[in-house]
Amino acid sequence: MTREDTTVWLNGRLIPWREATVPILSHALSRGSAFFDLFGVHVGPEGPVAFRMDRHLERFEKSAALLEMPLPRTREEIVAAVKEVVAANQLGRGIVKLVAYWGEEAIINLVLDTPLDLAIFPIADSPELALDVATPITACLSRWRKLHPQTVPVEAKACANYLNGYLARKDARDRGFDIGIMLDTDGNLAEGSTEALFIVEGGVLKVPPLGGVLSSITRLSVIEAAPSAGLEVREEVIGEQRLHVADELFCVHTGIKVHPVRRFEDRSFEAPGPVTRKMMALMDDIISFRDERFAHWFQPLF
Ligand SMILES: Cc1ncc(COP(=O)(O)O)c(C=O)c1O
Repeated sequence: MTREDTTVWLNGRLIPWREATVPILSHALSRGSAFFDLFGVHVGPEGPVAFRMDRHLERFEKSAALLEMPLPRTREEIVAAVKEVVAANQLGRGIVKLVAYWGEEAIINLVLDTPLDLAIFPIADSPELALDVATPITACLSRWRKLHPQTVPVEAKACANYLNGYLARKDARDRGFDIGIMLDTDGNLAEGSTEALFIVEGGVLKVPPLGGVLSSITRLSVIEAAPSAGLEVREEVIGEQRLHVADELFCVHTGIKVHPVRRFEDRSFEAPGPVTRKMMALMDDIISFRDERFAHWFQPLF
């Protein structure tokens, strides 16, 4: 099935992919009022299952609350819609992306009182998406700083926040790196454009605290799972200098879980290093259903 053959759930109806569009002068496009969430779909022994859909939907609801853009459907209705669109498209390994937005045209009005639109896209894995392909990557220090949380809610997965991520990724690509790592406006480690960052120091995983970064579900999963592999994790403020002397670096996100960094600026690493390798193996066991302790992280979609 090509993407063009896919059906999309839009406001309660399944429609062809090509018809899931908005006007150029829609509030969502011209004012940036859209937010989203996405989670992995895996092929379980009995059918498709979602990786931590409960947490992703919680974050989707939190984005709505932070942006004061109420979701037009309840949690139960959204879960039913996800199941409907996954079944209609026979989605196997892939992702489900939910987008809430004001699709109506708004020429002058900045604040709308009308209900949001809600779209749910099933996206099958592909060479472009390359889910679970953890080929080590290169990273640089971005010349862009992470948006300050007092300017916009950075914990909301707002599409407009991704202009910040776009600039950081563009800067990195222009300099020959795969990703750009952003510091916050105080000069401490924040995150990448679409990934949370961990450093390893003396065998311990360290990650910046929440407040100035997206509340990544993979970040949370690594923090919760690491002790079961005998690894200690600490959430702490990490100054820029520590990035340059860390033993290992890796980033995490829904698509690849644990992604080793093999070079940071002009410094090369063994990648994956021993701690990153341990974490990768654990996450791989979890998403391949080989670790019963985390079976509750999956919700059936059938
Ligand atoms: C800014 C940012 N940080 C971190 C992440 C990782 O979040 P998650 O683990 O929920 O995919 C993402 C994912 O898109 C992101 O956009």
